[in-house]
Amino acid sequence: MLKQTMILFALLCMYTAEAQDNTYPIIPKPQSVKADAGYFVLDSKTVLEAANPAAYKSLELFGQMVEQRYRIKLTTAIKTGVKHIIIESSNDTVENEAYHLEVNPKEIKIKGGPAGSFYALQSLFQLIRQQEDELIIPSCTIEDRPAFTYRGLMIDAARHYFSLEEMKKIIDVMALFKLNRLHWHLTDDQGWRLEIKKYPKLTQIAAWRDSSIIGRYNDFSPFLYDGRKQGGFYTREEARNLVTYAAERKITVIPEIELPGHSTAVLAAYPEFGCKDTAYRVPGYWGVHASILAPKEKTFRFLEDVLTEVMEIFPSEYIHIGGDEVPKVQWQESEDIQRFIRTKKLKDEHELQSYFVTRIEKFLNRHGRKIIGWDEILEGGLAPNATVMSWRGENGGIAAARLGHDVIMTPENCLYTDYYQSKDTDNEPSAIGGFLPLDQVYNYHPVPELLTTTERKHILGVQANMWTEYVDNNNKLEYMLFPRVLALSEIAWTCRTIQNYDDFFISRLPAQLKNIEAIGVFFRIPEARVKFSIHPGTGRKTAEIISSVAGSTVYYTVDNHIASQTSALYTGPVLLPFAGKREKPVMLRYVIVTPEGRMSNEYSIVYNK
Ligand code: ACM
Repeated sequence: MLKQTMILFALLCMYTAEAQDNTYPIIPKPQSVKADAGYFVLDSKTVLEAANPAAYKSLELFGQMVEQRYRIKLTTAIKTGVKHIIIESSNDTVENEAYHLEVNPKEIKIKGGPAGSFYALQSLFQLIRQQEDELIIPSCTIEDRPAFTYRGLMIDAARHYFSLEEMKKIIDVMALFKLNRLHWHLTDDQGWRLEIKKYPKLTQIAAWRDSSIIGRYNDFSPFLYDGRKQGGFYTREEARNLVTYAAERKITVIPEIELPGHSTAVLAAYPEFGCKDTAYRVPGYWGVHASILAPKEKTFRFLEDVLTEVMEIFPSEYIHIGGDEVPKVQWQESEDIQRFIRTKKLKDEHELQSYFVTRIEKFLNRHGRKIIGWDEILEGGLAPNATVMSWRGENGGIAAARLGHDVIMTPENCLYTDYYQSKDTDNEPSAIGGFLPLDQVYNYHPVPELLTTTERKHILGVQANMWTEYVDNNNKLEYMLFPRVLALSEIAWTCRTIQNYDDFFISRLPAQLKNIEAIGVFFRIPEARVKFSIHPGTGRKTAEIISSVAGSTVYYTVDNHIASQTSALYTGPVLLPFAGKREKPVMLRYVIVTPEGRMSNEYSIVYNK
């Protein structure tokens, strides 16, 4: 027992020692990093060489990243003999996403398959740092591989349309942090975003709404509308362009076409696929809408036609078919649909939903594709080959894994990036609700203890979901995503036994936030880590403020007045005020100003002995 405790203590000590070290600030944390002496100097004479053309594209992209970030141009070549950074192999003899990276003062060597060598270059990019006038990369040997094969991010482009450029920017950041699935939510009640040649009204009508509500859902009753027409769609060419852009960065784009619910926009264009003989409008308010698709032969023909075009654009093995939040009232009220239920010998509307999804699954399976659906597709019976995306907690995922189905975990309480990032919601941009701080994302582990070893193999990975009802511009999108997506990347890639939030937050996050800010990402500046202690000389309380962004400045007050750039500049631990013998709580208020000059919200922390 004593021995065990000592080993545990020794391990803990190793962690602490490591946690102080920010020489290798890679996110997600690699499997192993062996520090070596010296460093490689990166300059415009550095030649990037690949042993074969497959790896060459990754080198070119690395060269572009370095140029954008540091304004130096590197030379890329296939087999010149002058090699400074070289990808030595790009074959299938190594595990696909794994890589080996060696940095020494003379050269940098990478071994890995196509994805692995791409990831080695992302790690390398994160290691670059400025030392006086030079760009240096500290010597090391890294062995790395992912914990999960599915490392995803969902972007809802239906509630608000985001330009192709913005989607590419998100892909750039995903790639930098080794995420590999972009789940593109393309259709919903409030908008249809993909050009479908056979059904032009989807982009003429369903892609646009006349108006949207302002404020949060319950802010105004009745709703207040902005009176602005908005929407948009991606042409087939644009969508293909994004697929290629993502593939070059080792990301698969998984399109989502919602059915049978979240379909009001479809019905505004093609009311004949609905349950009611009525006209529909693309709504400008959020929530779960009652208008759903009817199980008519012509509806299935429509969906198959749409999915045929979707498959022409997206090579992804998976197609997401939605399946969430389907109110059954319109099916209950329709005589035709009730007759359909009896004819097909279905028990109820839940079995009808299962019939609906299974029929679409069969169609997609016939074309060599697989479906993913939200966990509601378990209700009424799971389609035989479906993968389940568990969002209402983990129960859906657990049930699916026990039935032998594959699962992607995305529980809303840990992975929904539309939730607030602070409890002080008045100090934050409007959001749907909830509270999801960075450490809560980080501390999520996607494999439930309840599952057996065999069942656990069905957990393919994790995904964060960015719903955009309240996100109507690029800055806000990036603010909600980052840095939470960096925590996601670590739980998706890094083996759980070496995850450590303090190490992530203190030793690695600051450097990477500085990096992504330099490439124009508008992340939320997280609260600093504040450590209180006793000053050894005076016995007074001190507060150390550790900023979350490297190279930033901090301004603070301890007199209960607002902190701003007119307040005291933080230069080292602050001696807190005192009031004679009687202790009083002290409020430390501060702002962080990043290297690019962005100021955080004002944050505060009370020291109350
Ligand atoms: C969902 O959040 N409705 C999947």
